[in-house]
Amino acid sequence: MADQFKRILVTAALPYANGPVHIGHMAGAYLPADLYVKYQRLKKRDILFICGSDEHGVPITIKADQEGVSPQDIVDRYHLMMKNAFSEFGIDFDNYSRTSLPVHHKTSQDFFTVLNSKGILNEKTEQQLFCEHDSMFLADRYVEGKCPKCGSEGARGDQCEACGSYLNQTDLVEPKCKICGNSPVIRETRHWYLPLGKFQDQLQTWIRSKSDWKDNVVNYCEGWFKEGLEDRAVTRDLKWGVNVPLPDAAGKVLYVWFDAPIGYISSTKEWAEKQGNPDKWKDYWFRQDTKLVHFIGKDNIVFHAIVFPAMLMAHGEFVLPDNVPANEFLNIEGKKLSTSRNYAVWLHEYLQEFKPDSLRYSLACTLPESKDSDFSWKEFQARHNNELADILGNFVNRTLTFAHKYFDGKVPVFNNPSAEDLQIQKYLSEAPEKIGKLYETYHFREAVQETMAVARLANKFFNDAEPWKTRVSDPEKCAATIHVCLQICRSLAILFLPVIPGTSGEIFRLLKCRQEELPSWTDASYFGLKEGAALNPPEILFTKIEDETISRQVEKLLKPDPVVTEAYQAEAIHPEISIDSFGLTDLRAAKIIQAEVFKGTDKLLKLRVSLGVEERQVLAGLQQHITPEELTGRTVVLVANLAPRKIKGEESKGMVLAGESKDGKLIPVFLPDSIPPGTIIR
Ligand code: MF3
Ligand code: ZN
Repeated sequence: MADQFKRILVTAALPYANGPVHIGHMAGAYLPADLYVKYQRLKKRDILFICGSDEHGVPITIKADQEGVSPQDIVDRYHLMMKNAFSEFGIDFDNYSRTSLPVHHKTSQDFFTVLNSKGILNEKTEQQLFCEHDSMFLADRYVEGKCPKCGSEGARGDQCEACGSYLNQTDLVEPKCKICGNSPVIRETRHWYLPLGKFQDQLQTWIRSKSDWKDNVVNYCEGWFKEGLEDRAVTRDLKWGVNVPLPDAAGKVLYVWFDAPIGYISSTKEWAEKQGNPDKWKDYWFRQDTKLVHFIGKDNIVFHAIVFPAMLMAHGEFVLPDNVPANEFLNIEGKKLSTSRNYAVWLHEYLQEFKPDSLRYSLACTLPESKDSDFSWKEFQARHNNELADILGNFVNRTLTFAHKYFDGKVPVFNNPSAEDLQIQKYLSEAPEKIGKLYETYHFREAVQETMAVARLANKFFNDAEPWKTRVSDPEKCAATIHVCLQICRSLAILFLPVIPGTSGEIFRLLKCRQEELPSWTDASYFGLKEGAALNPPEILFTKIEDETISRQVEKLLKPDPVVTEAYQAEAIHPEISIDSFGLTDLRAAKIIQAEVFKGTDKLLKLRVSLGVEERQVLAGLQQHITPEELTGRTVVLVANLAPRKIKGEESKGMVLAGESKDGKLIPVFLPDSIPPGTIIR
């Protein structure tokens, strides 16, 4: 689509750094964004893909309160974990930032200052819920009650998840403090408000001028317009967040939904600085020939289609989003995903057992593009076995096997093409444009299905041409068939690249195509391999996933939280020792800076721990019990003066204390992050 845009800026919602990411996140925003970006990169567009961790807001402080650690501890832990999971899954951001960085604090404060000095924000004293027990105002998720609109329990101070309404906390029915459960009182407090109502006309005209927005997004916005937009507070009485940049606003921070979307801007700034071209971010944000696209889940629509655009309009200069392709929700095995009940497929856990491409493909086939969709492990297995392995993998494999067996591992000559050869050549020449249109218009499910259709057709072509027969009866025709099939392999590697980049890379390698330079999308439309070019020997691209592997996953998902039914039969207490004997053991708080599987062993993890005064390596027999990701950043208890041991040539200095659960899992004794490394435990 040659449009008026010179560059594309793609954002994916900044995930809260209060827990790991799961497949619902992937299906909602990150995978579709990554598909779009990878496609546009192949189209050689000037495109930037921006994201980062959302490190403010009540979800973070609530998690910190629950664990008895600081909010900084929480965001440090999850920022890294999310960043790694994204990158392992092949989500290829140009920059993954975090909102606790100084560049972000400054950018959002400056943004606030511009709006305030333009006289756009209203300063008002209003009534808010205050918990006398915890002596704090109950901002956002710190208060829950019945939704005034739909009557559901568990509506939060800012939003009801059941009906999606955006609420004023004082409208909650029977509000309760989330920390102590008491009923709050009403107190007055001063805040700054964004008068959304003043922007309603402008927003309405703008959204109504969009012909290519998804129905779910437009309908949602229309619902808002119908109710009439109201003033929304952009500040909160909280300690964690970006301080309100005014002398008389001590103890107040910017509302997380004010600062987080500005995170897209600060992440772009950080990117530009890393490029050594600090002003480059302005090209993306200030020029009207930038196509800004926000990929989000449906719970974020109002903020990206209404509130943030209003902020950008109020500020002036900025480009507005060209589209906000929001996805609906992904259910799992027919039920709503729930992180609090641990009913989820966590990305880092998935990645321990499977390759990214299998999930990328199967999720891409079931993206909740226009309505909620369902992920099931059976379907995942079927997509992997019956499509990736049996269609794509099989085609590439039989083609290469044939070329090696009968054509000396080289691309055979293409003489006297048959009608079928020419027909599939023509089909291939049209495929990139056809599939490309689907990518351009955010129809990713269809794009992926159309891509698999190419592989399906290729298999049919192979079957119908019967090269195993023509090899004897008509060698020239056989050569042409295999030639065409190899060319299709190359095209498939290009067309599949947005979805299964790892596999594409493998196909390129098998075809000995140099990948230093990324191919372009249109390269898929013609035959690019030279006659006589050498090929690598075939390798299996996808091994089948067994039923057993899948039932284990389903079990893990459905296993309810372990309930203690019978009392644990504890061991008798050991013979008494003196306090002095106990004192011989030097127990220390040790912070795990790095954790990895000790390769070549199936029990040991290799840990790098800090004891404040020194760092050392510890080999711990925890591999079967806990993942390196779960350990990194955590503080454990270390027996610090055990004589060092050598295992498989590596030194281990100390022992991590752990207890055994009823089902035989060793669980380390974790200390709160507030205990510094090196602290003596007694
Ligand atoms: N952290 C929010 C969420 O997970 C999304 C923030 S998107 C941004 O729902 F635009 F504010 F960054
Ligand atoms: Zn309370």
